[in-house]
Amino acid sequence: MAQLVGGIATSHVPAIGRAIAKHLQNEPYWKPFFDGYGPVHRWLADQRPDVLVVFYNDHGLNFFLDKMPTFAIGAARRYGTADEGWGIPALPPFEGRPDLSWHLIERLVADEFDVTTCQEMVVDHAVALPMALLWPDQQWPVQIVPVCINTVQFPLPTARRCYALGESVGRAIAAWDVDARVAVLGTGGLSHQLDGERAGFINRDFDLQFMESLVHDPKWATRFSIHELVEKAGTQGVELLMWLATRGALGESVRCAHRNYHIPISNTASGLMVLEPVAPRTA
Ligand code: DHB
Ligand code: FE
Repeated sequence: MAQLVGGIATSHVPAIGRAIAKHLQNEPYWKPFFDGYGPVHRWLADQRPDVLVVFYNDHGLNFFLDKMPTFAIGAARRYGTADEGWGIPALPPFEGRPDLSWHLIERLVADEFDVTTCQEMVVDHAVALPMALLWPDQQWPVQIVPVCINTVQFPLPTARRCYALGESVGRAIAAWDVDARVAVLGTGGLSHQLDGERAGFINRDFDLQFMESLVHDPKWATRFSIHELVEKAGTQGVELLMWLATRGALGESVRCAHRNYHIPISNTASGLMVLEPVAPRTA
């Protein structure tokens, strides 16, 4: 049976792509951010996942406003990367894991999550840059299954629904009859707002309470409506829905193996957490 070894939640910001391309990792602005990933590299070297299920939000690259699925799952053999307009270089493509994709799709639909299936899919900075933070040599040692959650066009799925989606994915991974080590990755957040009157908005107190809640009271944030989350975390801060799905996948109780929080990276409060299930995740 597959083993769910843990989850990583991290911010994604296009400026990271430029910092990587220009080798700015040790500049004073970037160092506290990039240094946060050292313990994650060690954790990955210990855990050696074979496959990563990646909760992320597309930003207008694979889906645009004309067709916007609430939840979509990649079922491709390969995922190319591309830039949706920030001027950052594309990164090497990712190998998919279609048998896990279809297993997840079957389980999710049986669990009444009517997902869109994507046998062709390109991924933007929300997948590519976190992967480059995890594996700076960009020689990806894992296959991926992208799970896309709409945070671009309202109405967005509720926090409760995203947590439940994660729970369903976690159960499906535990029931996958393949000898593989699987990790989940969630990318986005934490608080940020890119436009409007509150452009530049960051809420440190909320972010820290949110990160803490994922360990001790994981459904805490599911009490808030999307509009309340926008109020607390900013318009783009709702990307924390990916963190909730990631946490949902990990089951009842987790320990925090690593965390980092740094303000700002571009307009974003950047957060990073590594969570491990205390007991093996069961179906
Ligand atoms: C920024 C953050 C994001 O999450 C994003 O998708 C684009 C830009 C930023 O802070 O610049
Ligand atoms: Fe984003």
